Amino acid sequence: MSSPMLAARARILGTGHFLPTVVRTNREIERLVDTSDTWITERTGIRERRLAPDGVTTSDMGALAALAALDMAGVRASELDLIVVATVTPDMPMPSAAALVQHKIGAKACPAFDVGAACAGFVFALTVAEQFVRTGKCHRVLVIGGDTLTKFLDWTDRKTCVLFGDGAGAVVLGSDAAVDGKGRPRGVLSTSLSTDGSLVPALYIPGGGSAHPPSAETVERRLHFIRMNGQEIFKHAVKNLVSASRAALDEAEMTTAGVDWVCAHQANKRILDQVAIRLETTPERMLSNIDRVGNTSSASIPILLDENVRSGKIKDGDAVLMSALGAGVSWGGAVVRM
Ligand code: ACO
Repeated sequence: MSSPMLAARARILGTGHFLPTVVRTNREIERLVDTSDTWITERTGIRERRLAPDGVTTSDMGALAALAALDMAGVRASELDLIVVATVTPDMPMPSAAALVQHKIGAKACPAFDVGAACAGFVFALTVAEQFVRTGKCHRVLVIGGDTLTKFLDWTDRKTCVLFGDGAGAVVLGSDAAVDGKGRPRGVLSTSLSTDGSLVPALYIPGGGSAHPPSAETVERRLHFIRMNGQEIFKHAVKNLVSASRAALDEAEMTTAGVDWVCAHQANKRILDQVAIRLETTPERMLSNIDRVGNTSSASIPILLDENVRSGKIKDGDAVLMSALGAGVSWGGAVVRM
């Protein structure tokens, strides 16, 4: 929806990411639970993932990703007027990871807050941030997706421990009105968000909040670990990654044919294959790094985006379709012209 009151679209001025150096391979997980490299690779496409070691937090990784994105954008931290961090694994219950990132990167006292939509978090945070830019309220906005879900995995549960990895990615948004070389508007062209709270039991961490505050009993009952109905999530992921993509494309008045790259949340290679078929896009346009990083939750899209910007695959003027789904269940899509 457009309005004469709205200012410029939010353009991505720079991208960055950080992955911890500690690698955990499928072979190493074979030694922890009854699984195999073959099963994990064939059922998920994941071969290895990165683990944030003890003492390395979501805000640490987010700050490093942010500095890389600021550097690419040519924007100083002191110029930021908003910081939004998508995470469900902040360093601590309070304050926000965004407040910690703000201090670590040396930003001034701008508003900084977290957005929680699990694996869909980055699309939610991008949507929130771009509203501030479009209304003219903010001009330089940092959006981070970062999670350390491996710290909340039950390493005796083979159904979940094989899936996740840690990391952070960031983008710097700017209000600079611009068009690409062909006169097409650049920036966030459309977004689409949804949540269906009736699906909460399909994916959640029961303990640590006001329902089950931390205690010796919650630890003993293993309430602080991820619980997931994998098949249920799989089904909703395929359906809703497609519906969110279509909604974002419709709003941008585009079709899949006009999209150069699909940058979808990396949860499972089989989910991505199904989405590609339903969106009728070619496998070459489906960006992927799931084999190396696994499911990094809200960091998934910005890490993938940055890797492909830095490799030169995603170029100025390219249209990128983003889509993600996570606990809630929440899902969203966005179309961005770089
Ligand atoms: N190693 C070996 N066997 C396993 C493993 C494992 N790591 N995990 C499950 N199995 C077994 C099951 O116990 C089951 O055995 P059984 O038939 O004897 O009971 C068998 O494999 C089949 O189990 P399914 O759950 O049907 O396996 P499926 O093919 O659905 O794959 C998976 C499971 C990989 C979790 C898949 O359902 C999936 O990826 N779902 C999406 C979950 C997800 O991505 N969550 C992330 C958060 S949300 C998001 O990011 C989209």
